[in-house]
Amino acid sequence: MARIVGGVGTTHVPSIGKAIAEHKDKDPYWSPFFDGFHAVHQWLGRVKPDVAVVFYNDHGLNFFLDKLPTFAVGAANEYRNEDEGWGIPVSKALAGDAAFSWHLINALVADEFDITMCQDMLVDHAVTIPMALMWPGGGSCPVKIVPISINTVQHLLPSVSRCLKLGRSIGHAIESYEQDLRVMIVGTGGLSHQLDGERAGFINKEFDQLCMDKIVNDPDALTRYTISQLVEQAGAQGVELLNWVAMRGALTGRVSELHRNYHIPISNTAATMLLDNQAVAQRQAA
Ligand SMILES: [Fe+2]
Repeated sequence: MARIVGGVGTTHVPSIGKAIAEHKDKDPYWSPFFDGFHAVHQWLGRVKPDVAVVFYNDHGLNFFLDKLPTFAVGAANEYRNEDEGWGIPVSKALAGDAAFSWHLINALVADEFDITMCQDMLVDHAVTIPMALMWPGGGSCPVKIVPISINTVQHLLPSVSRCLKLGRSIGHAIESYEQDLRVMIVGTGGLSHQLDGERAGFINKEFDQLCMDKIVNDPDALTRYTISQLVEQAGAQGVELLNWVAMRGALTGRVSELHRNYHIPISNTAATMLLDNQAVAQRQAA
């Protein structure tokens, strides 16, 4: 049976892609952020995941404001990236696992999630940058992915509660998959930041820390925030927290925090979090 090994929450700021391309990970300006991934690399080397389910939001590469699904699930064996206009190199295509995607899609529809199924899906920096951070060096990514896009861009957005339930549905679906896959969950984006308007540059460190604490131990506590309140607390683009919430929802076992890094000065907040997921049955057997 498939097993959920843990989750990673990470920012996906485009300038990180440029820093990777220009090999600036050791620069004093960037190293406090990139160094935060050493623990993730060690963990990945230990758990050796086969598949990554990636909750993210598309920024206009695959969907645009005229047609923007609330939830979209990739069902392809390959996901390409294209030039997004950020000045970052186009990434290599990432391998998918269409059979596993369809299993998850079946379970989501059975749980009454009205999703968009994408047999052809471009993935943007919100997927490619986290993958490059987790597996640096420019080689082929060793895991297959299932990209799940959540609309955090065009209001009205799904609620925190809905995203948590989406993640939980995915988590239960993974655990019912018959193949012996080791599955990691990724949530990308955020945390607090705002790119435009009067509050451009807005960051709320205190709220970010609160969210990270709750993501570990009490994700349901975050459902008290409406989307408007999230925008107020985290900034217009800080609602990308929804991707982290879905990631946490998919961790259905006993969750513990293995690592956290929080570094502000790279134009937006740059948070990284690593969570272990110990299956309940495995815990009872231990
Ligand atoms: Fe973003």
